[in-house]
Amino acid sequence: MADKSPAGGYTLGNTDAEHERLARQAAIFNPITERLFRAAGIGPGQRVLDLGSGAGDVAMLVANLVGPSGEVVGFERHEGSIQRARERCAQAGLRNVTFRQGDVAEVAGERLFDAAVGRWILMFVPDPIAVVRAASAMVRPGGAVAFHEVSWESFLSRTASLPLTGAAVRLMRAAFVATGANIEMGYALRGVFEGAGLPLPVLHMETLLGAEAEFSRWLTDTVKSVLPHIDPANPLLEAVGDLATLAARTLDEMQRDNAVIAWISMIGAWCARQA
Ligand SMILES: C[S@@+](CC[C@H](N)C(=O)[O-])C[C@H]1O[C@@H](n2cnc3c(N)ncnc32)[C@H](O)[C@@H]1O
Repeated sequence: MADKSPAGGYTLGNTDAEHERLARQAAIFNPITERLFRAAGIGPGQRVLDLGSGAGDVAMLVANLVGPSGEVVGFERHEGSIQRARERCAQAGLRNVTFRQGDVAEVAGERLFDAAVGRWILMFVPDPIAVVRAASAMVRPGGAVAFHEVSWESFLSRTASLPLTGAAVRLMRAAFVATGANIEMGYALRGVFEGAGLPLPVLHMETLLGAEAEFSRWLTDTVKSVLPHIDPANPLLEAVGDLATLAARTLDEMQRDNAVIAWISMIGAWCARQA
């Protein structure tokens, strides 16, 4: 399938290691996403569309919210990711989740949904307004449209004074920039909803602070996933050093500095589709 990422390919890849990273990342961020979806009114019996499902973490979270009388349809373009998501749903005993393969820009279908959601997907598409417009056209009047995206502002500023951790974060940023991903997609959500013809969304931001050991592991995992998009001549590679020991070294640096680091901020936007 042709890669329609903004530029240079999809930043994080779809390897087995990336699927495992997504699952670990979901365990950290899911409580925030669950709060967004509950605020948007997602609940028992609903039929929900999930865009950019990856290894299925949001689809599984929503499946638990809608319960056995509800249904989730995940939309994802990478076949291997869909395979992994299906296996995980089966292992979790979730029978009300199905996945369809395709580009989120081309999402379409006959039956309307009660809600359309997505996490960490609009930042990777060339035309997020078109994606939200297509997704909201699949939602019944009064149904919810809810997206969770990122802002890197606090993440960059709170790690800037730590030489090693800051270098690893800037290396990650280089890969996201090289592939055209929008690391401030969260703040763009208001304009995206408006451009898609939706009402002004309710906007909310949550930022996790601290938890250095988990943070060091997540940072290292993410650097490994984006490595194929790093220019081998990037001097930050030398500053970051051996990835096998990066988690231990960044943890040591944060603890030595008594640093209070900020994770990537999660910005949620939701609204009800008008009749
Ligand atoms: C960062 S992952 C997020 C996965 C999941 N939403 C979560 O929160 O764990 C982004 C996923 O979107 C998929 N993706 C990126 N661009 C896409 C597109 N244009 N159409 C469909 N899927 C896309 C990628 O293959 C990847 O699986």
